[in-house]
Amino acid sequence: MGFMPFLTFICMLNFHLFQTFASDGSPLETYIVHVDGPDGVLNRLDDLDSWYNTFLSTITVASGERNRRIYSYRNVFKGFAARLSADEVKAMEDMPGFISARPERKLSLHTTHSPNFLGLNQNMGFWNESNYGKGVIIGVLDTGIFPDHPSFSDEGMPPPPAKWKGKCDFNLTTKCNNKIIGARYFNSFDDSPLDDDGHGTHTASTAAGNFVRGANVFGNANGTAVGIAPLAHLAIYKVCSLFCSESDILAAMDTAIDDGVDVLSLSLGGFANSLYDDSIALGAYSAMEQGILVSCSAGNAGPYNFSLSNEAPWILTVGASTIDRKIRATALLGDNQTFDGESTFQPMDFPPTLLPLVYAGMLNTSDPDIQFCTAESLNGTDLRGKIVVCEVGITTRISKGIAVKEAGGAAMILVNPARFANLTLSESHVLPATHVSYADGLKIKAYINSTSTPTATIVFRGTIIGDDRAPVVAAFSSRGPNWVSRNILKPDILGPGVNILAAWPVSVENNTNTNATFNIISGTSMSCPHLSGIAALLKSSHPDWSPAAIKSAIMTTADVVNLAQNPIEDERFLPANVFATGSGHVNPSRANDPGLIYDLQAEDYIPYLCGLNYTNREVGSILQRRVNCSAESRIPETQLNYPSFALTFGVFQPTVQTYTRTVTNVGEPNSSYVVEIVPPPGIDVLVEPTKLDFLEVNQKLQYQVTFSRLNSTTSIGFVQGYLKWNSSKRSVRSPIAVILR
Ligand SMILES: *[C@@H]1O[C@H](CO)[C@@H](O)[C@H](O)[C@H]1NC(C)=O
Ligand SMILES: *[C@@H]1O[C@H](CO)[C@@H](O)[C@H](O)[C@H]1NC(C)=O
Ligand SMILES: *[C@@H]1O[C@H](CO)[C@@H](O)[C@H](O)[C@H]1NC(C)=O
Ligand SMILES: *[C@@H]1O[C@H](CO)[C@@H](O)[C@H](O)[C@H]1NC(C)=O
Ligand SMILES: *[C@@H]1O[C@H](CO)[C@@H](O)[C@H](O)[C@H]1NC(C)=O
Ligand SMILES: *[C@@H]1O[C@H](CO)[C@@H](O)[C@H](O)[C@H]1NC(C)=O
Ligand SMILES: *[C@@H]1O[C@H](CO)[C@@H](O)[C@H](O)[C@H]1NC(C)=O
Ligand SMILES: *[C@@H]1O[C@H](CO)[C@@H](O)[C@H](O)[C@H]1NC(C)=O
Ligand SMILES: *[C@@H]1O[C@H](CO)[C@@H](O)[C@H](O)[C@H]1NC(C)=O
Ligand SMILES: *[C@@H]1O[C@H](CO)[C@@H](O)[C@H](O)[C@H]1NC(C)=O
Ligand SMILES: *[C@@H]1O[C@H](CO)[C@@H](O)[C@H](O)[C@H]1NC(C)=O
Ligand SMILES: *[C@@H]1O[C@H](CO)[C@@H](O)[C@H](O)[C@H]1NC(C)=O
Repeated sequence: MGFMPFLTFICMLNFHLFQTFASDGSPLETYIVHVDGPDGVLNRLDDLDSWYNTFLSTITVASGERNRRIYSYRNVFKGFAARLSADEVKAMEDMPGFISARPERKLSLHTTHSPNFLGLNQNMGFWNESNYGKGVIIGVLDTGIFPDHPSFSDEGMPPPPAKWKGKCDFNLTTKCNNKIIGARYFNSFDDSPLDDDGHGTHTASTAAGNFVRGANVFGNANGTAVGIAPLAHLAIYKVCSLFCSESDILAAMDTAIDDGVDVLSLSLGGFANSLYDDSIALGAYSAMEQGILVSCSAGNAGPYNFSLSNEAPWILTVGASTIDRKIRATALLGDNQTFDGESTFQPMDFPPTLLPLVYAGMLNTSDPDIQFCTAESLNGTDLRGKIVVCEVGITTRISKGIAVKEAGGAAMILVNPARFANLTLSESHVLPATHVSYADGLKIKAYINSTSTPTATIVFRGTIIGDDRAPVVAAFSSRGPNWVSRNILKPDILGPGVNILAAWPVSVENNTNTNATFNIISGTSMSCPHLSGIAALLKSSHPDWSPAAIKSAIMTTADVVNLAQNPIEDERFLPANVFATGSGHVNPSRANDPGLIYDLQAEDYIPYLCGLNYTNREVGSILQRRVNCSAESRIPETQLNYPSFALTFGVFQPTVQTYTRTVTNVGEPNSSYVVEIVPPPGIDVLVEPTKLDFLEVNQKLQYQVTFSRLNSTTSIGFVQGYLKWNSSKRSVRSPIAVILR
């Protein structure tokens, strides 16, 4: 598992920062060690430290060597991170209390307009009712923060709530304020929480940035930049630089739980094989027990099936979709065909004259990389005065522009591979450029083939709002089914994650005379903080709601149609399936008034975890206490009181499956709901009772749902449907995903 920031254009660099050696010369690595303690010992931090030290007592530490223990964990689990050799770990295995040790993994990181697109408007509606998230603390685990940006001004912000126990580790000249109330760093090679990348500044300002007028990039997307919860506080935990280390992420989650955050936002992740083997899932479980909602990006590994990160049911897993804003750059060919694409860099002085057009893939047929316009492959090529067509590939799209410009190119047309279909990204290119769809790329290449003198130009049309196809699921947004828990539907929700404008530490325009700099970037890293902000708004307007209640409110009220009222589409402009959309696209105002919620308390996950057939020790490592599954009830995953349904019919599953759900009335005291069912093709869905009559607020009622496979001839694959509880005012919708095997 590599944990990456979930930004579409960050490539992960892996290197050893400090290779050190044990006294016998064997190399040291950072291990995550889980231990168990004699009962009663493991409460006070100094008790824990001395207990953890006993595991390290036999190790010979060379003189001058730093402490081998890097972190002591208390909340996320009992254990520590330490630099150890394989032999030292082996020796530890026989000690009483030892549970497990494994080398840490590297994880990767995976808006002027988006609040508006989400229906949040100043002085009215949900923004006003939730007081813009006032008093709520959002913890952001990312690349740190650029605190001097006006998005983090504390104008109009109240002081931190009394419960806040965090720290501010900036230096003497930079201080926290009432917006950024805490800032810590966890990378051993860092000496401050300052953001040397931009990713963390962007995500934090998306979640809770203050109002900044006249925000734009190259004059585009001009407007007032603001985060989703502009009166929420930010607590910054820097855990990533070029990559994010598991030991640092765990230490930051451990600290954030103690500090008193209300929401945790993690735009990073990796791939896991099981819930007990996934550090973020472990940390998130402990956070959830403390009432903290954990919002995580779903990953940028789409559009492939089974490409999700952060799949635990106690996490809000966020996919990415487009907003209705385009920053249009149109390719005009010599035969007058036009193809609309996007670019943030829009030079006003680019001449309308047609220039020679070349396809990089035909420049040198012996170089397999040349169509991707890498710096190496274009090195030495003379592209003076030409418009160059390049294929989108692994290297960043900005770097292709740099290579084309280096070789003398006048402009660049980026064309998508088949899998990215119609997803175009607006980026801060270094030369006149446009990014067009796969289908348009084929037509441009066919035109080049059709004539001996292909020519083109790019026409820059600026910001266009009102694409009624939006939201469209982003091609890169990771897809289900869920790998670690097949019968929990993931992702949970979609949020804006394509071409998002937010704060950036440096000017991408070479501008030196302003500190209000912004950038437009894309990724599930960008959609996650939108949902973290929405969770903060909900926490502010419903302080008594559990993390599961907030999730349920967000999921059951989500939109399943786009602005044109058609079903939400994927990157191919075909109706997107539930493994791409989850419950749908977030609708914050409806989430504030969901009518019914599917609630869950921490202990409800025990029968679920035992039902996954994990060992007592595996379940215990998630729960942080001894568990005996044979004394607990076990439930199938689909029986968890989740706001969506996923189930499997195959040779090993019964052809009739019955589950129960409990819904809590959070609307008016007297309200009745009637069920509406759209069964997946080939599946019969029966709900009992078909009507729920509530007499009071917080009353809970149960219903039973029976799924039957209609006959044994239905095909293999996925089918989907939904069930919905409708009252005169509200509807509470749960998607149904069925895997047929
Ligand atoms: C805003 O919310 C307050 C209460 O939080 C309410 O008194 C006021 O009427 C609301 N204003 C508008 C315009 O909805
Ligand atoms: C830079 O930001 C600070 C804090 O928001 C603000 O007080 C200052 O006026 C800004 N400076 C410029 C040159 O914009
Ligand atoms: C303190 O932080 C500011 C940025 O907030 C930075 O510009 C300055 O160089 C830092 N000073 C020291 C001594 O590290
Ligand atoms: C952005 O919009 C504001 C208000 O409409 C305007 O004053 C400003 O000149 C615009 N900036 C750019 C770069 O277009
Ligand atoms: C995902 O699975 C579905 C159903 O089996 C299949 O139709 C689709 O092609 C798969 N998608 C990818 C990208 O492999
Ligand atoms: C393209 O359109 C222009 C203006 O309408 C026209 O003058 C020109 O002849 C057209 N070129 C082709 C190849 O059709
Ligand atoms: C380009 O080629 C020259 C000569 O072989 C080499 O010195 C240079 O490093 C290369 N540049 C890149 C970006 O590969
Ligand atoms: C263009 O021509 C090349 C070489 O003849 C061929 O390989 C390619 O498939 C053609 N491309 C299109 C889009 O027609
Ligand atoms: C930024 O500066 C670099 C180096 O001077 C230059 O190559 C580039 O074109 C500039 N970019 C813009 C958008 O002006
Ligand atoms: C969208 O993408 C699909 C798949 O690449 C393609 O067939 C279709 O023509 C595209 N639609 C538009 C409007 O570009
Ligand atoms: C757990 O084991 C039981 C009994 O063998 C089986 O029915 C069930 O499907 C298993 N659950 C999972 C999630 O594998
Ligand atoms: C089996 O189910 C499929 C899908 O619903 C349907 O098309 C088919 O007619 C059914 N066959 C029988 C024998 O019921």
